[in-house]
Amino acid sequence: MNLRGLEADLGRRFARLTTNAVVARPRLWGLFRRLTRAQFDRLAPVWTGMRSADAFAALEQGLDALPEAPRRALDLGTGTGLAAFAVARRFPEAEVVGVDLAERMVEEAQASTPPELSDRMTFQTADAERLPFADGSFELVTLANMIPFFDELTRVVAPGGHVVFSFSSGPQTPIWVPPDRLRRQLEARGFTEFADFDAGAGTALLARKGDRL
Ligand SMILES: C[S@@+](CC[C@H](N)C(=O)[O-])C[C@H]1O[C@@H](n2cnc3c(N)ncnc32)[C@H](O)[C@@H]1O
Repeated sequence: MNLRGLEADLGRRFARLTTNAVVARPRLWGLFRRLTRAQFDRLAPVWTGMRSADAFAALEQGLDALPEAPRRALDLGTGTGLAAFAVARRFPEAEVVGVDLAERMVEEAQASTPPELSDRMTFQTADAERLPFADGSFELVTLANMIPFFDELTRVVAPGGHVVFSFSSGPQTPIWVPPDRLRRQLEARGFTEFADFDAGAGTALLARKGDRL
């Protein structure tokens, strides 16, 4: 393995370690935040080119299964915005917000927003651990290859709204949370109506937040 390959491998291992640690103990995020931001700031210029053609196929299946179109959608850990673009294309009336910790990712997402989507898409730098949005602001929250902060994402989903988690390479995805673990965390916060999807190498999980939460 050459130096670049070694660096990429270390980056993947770090992402998996961070995911496992933060899902088990969210308070550990403070130890990982700076390095995670630096890792993805560095990757931002090449990120889109690293995505396979079917990277969001499972996410798309989850979106297809939504019973109704969201008015507002949030893509957490949006990177260069590819999943957010997919949401905006799927729901032509929706306002779509993408957030990312890494400023250079947000700059890439803003610069590559297709003109036909730009009037209803915004990207901003924010930490998914503490989001700058009011409770229940979004009928849909998506996470593509992103570390989940369950309390905070639950807070911003509207009652009866949905969340879709997707992992482009299934269990091989560096940032991956096993579906049974996702379900347990979501059930504990009042989510129901789970549905699993497989497409290409990817997987996704859809869940609905209770009406009265
Ligand atoms: C593996 S990339 C996925 C990017 C994009 N969703 C995709 O699938 O192409 C993970 C992204 O999540 C961002 N991220 C990690 N932790 C975050 C946090 N706490 N809040 C916001 N973004 C975060 C990273 O900066 C990175 O851009």
